[in-house]
Amino acid sequence: MPTMTSRRFLQLLGFAAASLMLSACGKKEEPPPAPAPVASAPAPAPVKVYAVGTDAAYAPFESQNDKGEIVGFDIEVVKAIAKKAGIEVKFVNTPWEGIFNTLAQGDRDLVVSAVTITEERKQTMDFSDPYFDAQQLIAVKTNSKIAKFADLKKLKVGVQTGTTGDEAVTKLQGKTSANIKRFESTPLALKELEAGGVDAVVADNGVVINYVANNPGGKFKSIADKEFVPEQYGIALKKGNAELQAKVNKALAEIKADGSYDAIYTKYFGAPPAKAAAAPASAASK
Ligand code: ARG
Repeated sequence: MPTMTSRRFLQLLGFAAASLMLSACGKKEEPPPAPAPVASAPAPAPVKVYAVGTDAAYAPFESQNDKGEIVGFDIEVVKAIAKKAGIEVKFVNTPWEGIFNTLAQGDRDLVVSAVTITEERKQTMDFSDPYFDAQQLIAVKTNSKIAKFADLKKLKVGVQTGTTGDEAVTKLQGKTSANIKRFESTPLALKELEAGGVDAVVADNGVVINYVANNPGGKFKSIADKEFVPEQYGIALKKGNAELQAKVNKALAEIKADGSYDAIYTKYFGAPPAKAAAAPASAASK
């Protein structure tokens, strides 16, 4: 083993001393310790943020803007409800297929997605009071000869899987019809119409009107038919979540009463909703 010279030893000693000093300096530069918590200030309770599922490919009800933010009529209605109810919400883009399972599983607290309240759905989930009146509408190419829903009996029709549009066309053509083309989103069904793969698309009126209006060149038109039953949208909740349902319903009534609902409606649809229910039956049928 080679012996260490005293010079080398002193050198090492120097290093050691220097690094000691450095670390001492380092200690001094550390920020002062945080002040001890004041015993009387309780830690703020974590705020519950309600997760709201939405299939954000359904303009003008829910869609994603250029920045990837989820926007639309439904979104603004739920934000206004949340504000009134004093609750926090965050919107989560959720595929339509399986969207209701997320409620049962507890992954979402609410689903706002232009969801029609139906007897069948009510078996497995709860709904808020209705917040929007809707109806199915047919989208076709401008030069199409289709004039009414019954004309679709033997034609190729695009729908979004599991929607009320799907239900209506399935009823017309029969469960085993090979002419019903089902898509995971309504925009995909409409793309297929554009490409000529289907003769028509049946979807909610608001979405079809929005699509026809936003398609440059006027390549599409919409066809209404009284055969379609009136629909109403509700906010879906896990079955039995009566506490949240009550909060939502109370806040919904409040935003309808104070004009904020009408303001959102007007922003998206040009005019406040027609007060059809207030009119006598004879006048309403004219
Ligand atoms: N109103 C229809 C239904 O409840 C279609 C809703 C589809 N919504 C959506 N965001 N894709 O079946």
